[in-house]
Amino acid sequence: MPSAALNIITISFLVFIFISILISVNLMKYIIFNWKSYLNISESMNLSKVVSKLPSTKKYKLISSPNNFYNLTLKSRYPKNIYAAQNVDLHGKGASTGSIDIQDLVSNKIKFCIIGHSEVRSNFGETDLIIQKKTDLCLHNKITPIVCIGEPVDIYKSKKTKNYLKKQINKIFKKSNIYNEVILAYEPLWSIGTGLTPKMSEINDILQFLTKILKNYSFKKIKILYGGSVNLSNIKEILSLQKLDGVLVGSASTKPSFIKYFR
Ligand code: 13P
Repeated sequence: MPSAALNIITISFLVFIFISILISVNLMKYIIFNWKSYLNISESMNLSKVVSKLPSTKKYKLISSPNNFYNLTLKSRYPKNIYAAQNVDLHGKGASTGSIDIQDLVSNKIKFCIIGHSEVRSNFGETDLIIQKKTDLCLHNKITPIVCIGEPVDIYKSKKTKNYLKKQINKIFKKSNIYNEVILAYEPLWSIGTGLTPKMSEINDILQFLTKILKNYSFKKIKILYGGSVNLSNIKEILSLQKLDGVLVGSASTKPSFIKYFR
């Protein structure tokens, strides 16, 4: 075979491989297990073991978020699992009793951190301004923030969700910044822990809206997740939403049967 033809075949093959990799990376769904404060250390260890035994797949990127207290122990026992912290502190090392310092995440190779979860907002009085600072702190330290936003039930009922989310985003992100990877989790407050979820058409509508307004900001990579009462009976339908990059799951993710779904 002439060498020119051989070159064309080789180049075509490489382009094909490159495009396939790009497509599979883009289609990969983020599945984040937020174990909140449901589990003790041995239960967290058992679930981490279940996660570690799943065969690796191009379909899902699995991230476990145990109680911050257990992160380091779990990371050392199951180093291949990916862990996210459930929060981080704005105070640096030093006289900060009860702090979770960002350097502790960096030095222990915890690459993700949940920021602005509604339970942190309500239990610890966290504001959008604090969330903005924590997001910047994470990005500055090369940790991907999983930034949570979502509307309370009265806003949902009065059909003002979009306006509410737009304001949250506007306070957390600056149009003048260039952001590295950010994960945005849309978690309607009335859906968290209630067994209620928006209709698929509503989630899709919000996804389209978020995709549109996020174009006003500069993200090198932005992923949009849904969270709130995701479980074994609705996961398939939710993940079938094409524009959705994944899910953030609370109580259902503390069950091995749910985790094994992602085989
Ligand atoms: P549930 O899945 O328990 O509703 O919690 C959702 C959540 O808060 C995930 O961060």
